[in-house]
Amino acid sequence: MLIELCDISVLDVGSMKRIIKNVDDKEMRFCIINLGTDIYVLDDLCTHADFSLSEGFLSAKTHELECPKHSAVFDIDSGKAKCLPATEPVQTYKVILKNNIIYIELE
Ligand code: FES
Repeated sequence: MLIELCDISVLDVGSMKRIIKNVDDKEMRFCIINLGTDIYVLDDLCTHADFSLSEGFLSAKTHELECPKHSAVFDIDSGKAKCLPATEPVQTYKVILKNNIIYIELE
C-alpha cells in the first residue's frame, strides 16, 4: 500500500520534518529527511522514550540521527540504534518519489 506523505518542496535539502498521517484509523508519525540525493523516512518516535526524532540532530555525512532527548543515535539507512540508551531499531520505510510527491510503501 502506498501512503502519500508530502510534496518534496516542503523540505529544504539537509532538513527533516515530522508528518502525521492516519493510516487505517491509526495515527502514524513519520520523520522525513531530505539529503538532496536521497529521501529517508523513519518512524518519528525514538524507541527509547517516544521523543520526536525530527527535532533531533542530523549528520548528512555519517547518515546518523541523534535523538534530542537523551542522545541515542540511529542509522537512517537501517534504523539501527547505534548507541544507548536506545537498544531497539526505529522502523524505516521504502521511499518512492513520484512527480515531486514523497510516498512510502507499507506492507
Ligand atoms: S527519548 Fe530518545 S534517547 Fe531517550
